[in-house]
Amino acid sequence: MLLLSREDIKKVFTMQDAIEVVKKAFCLVVEGECDAPIRTNIRAKKHDGCFLFMPAYAQELDAATLKVINIFPHNIDHGLPSSPAQVFLIDGKTGIMSAVLDGTYVTQLRTGAATGAAFEVLAKKDCRIGALIGTGGQAATQLEAMLAVRKLEEVRVYDLNGERTEAFADKMRNELGGYGARIVAVQSSDAAIEDADLVVTVTPATKPVFDGTKIKSGATISCVGSYQPHMQEMDPAVLPRASKIYFDSKEAVLAESGDILIPLEKGVITKDDFTGDLGDVLLGKTTGRENDDEIIVFETVGVATQDLVTAKAIYEKAVVAGAGYRWE
Ligand SMILES: NC(=O)c1ccc[n+]([C@@H]2O[C@H](COP(=O)([O-])OP(=O)(O)OC[C@H]3O[C@@H](n4cnc5c(N)ncnc54)[C@H](O)[C@@H]3O)[C@@H](O)[C@H]2O)c1
Repeated sequence: MLLLSREDIKKVFTMQDAIEVVKKAFCLVVEGECDAPIRTNIRAKKHDGCFLFMPAYAQELDAATLKVINIFPHNIDHGLPSSPAQVFLIDGKTGIMSAVLDGTYVTQLRTGAATGAAFEVLAKKDCRIGALIGTGGQAATQLEAMLAVRKLEEVRVYDLNGERTEAFADKMRNELGGYGARIVAVQSSDAAIEDADLVVTVTPATKPVFDGTKIKSGATISCVGSYQPHMQEMDPAVLPRASKIYFDSKEAVLAESGDILIPLEKGVITKDDFTGDLGDVLLGKTTGRENDDEIIVFETVGVATQDLVTAKAIYEKAVVAGAGYRWE
């Protein structure tokens, strides 16, 4: 069995690689070619946490995974990851475990790549300004994904915690400077989204984190953080302005995400307003963007198929490169 750490994965797998395989994952989702039951969620109310168990099997890949990811939102205040995880990759021919991967990093990569895939497919070609709201554990890969798919001049980053915003912006200027965009820490979400073509929200918020009336026409928004019915990052005011609403998986979003469930319940939108899953667009079954003025919303809660396809692709590259530690 191969043990693959974050550093091992970084050596063999890029954000661009992740975006390509996550697009494949979203196609498998809509084709029904991946058996991925809705995840088991066991609440740890005492610590506001939960344990999530995410299984997936795809015959086409001859592989299965189980990701164990535990969400403990207060960890960040103690310098610990809020979504620690491991991914177990299993050989689909023998049932033997092939690898254990650093699931915290696999999650960051594939979650960033979901936004990257959505922006690559749905955003207008000419985007200049990006906005990132939330600068915690998932933020770096969200930022890189944005930069990987559009040539941006500037990305404004904002977090409720001002120190974290500044530290994140500094770190990203060092790590992602090669993309050539200015990375600027700002003091409010209004300042972040003003004139932004691409907007990402990645927070555990329970109230909208931006003003939906201030999103400019032509913008594409990826909402990543809301994975429980009471959680909400997206301002419902943007929904009537949006001409299209896409999901990573409609089934998963409607099982979990307050971003969509709350406005549905309040009658701000109906199910007729849903355009489809991103996989439908990738497979040519649904229209994507039709002009540069449309506001487009993408909601992602994350699906186990993303972990399966990403883990398998990382494993294959690691074997070729001789990366990782073999545990016999
Ligand atoms: N969609 C997916 O596939 C997926 C995958 C992993 C994590 N998530 C979710 O994404 C969210 C973020 O995850 P993380 O690991 O980065 O969390 P984190 O705890 O590391 O960071 C969250 C950040 O959001 C900031 N924040 C909270 N409320 C805010 C607000 N109103 N405005 C601006 N900033 C605010 C916090 O200060 C913190 O810096 C969580 O809800 C997590 O469960 C989604």
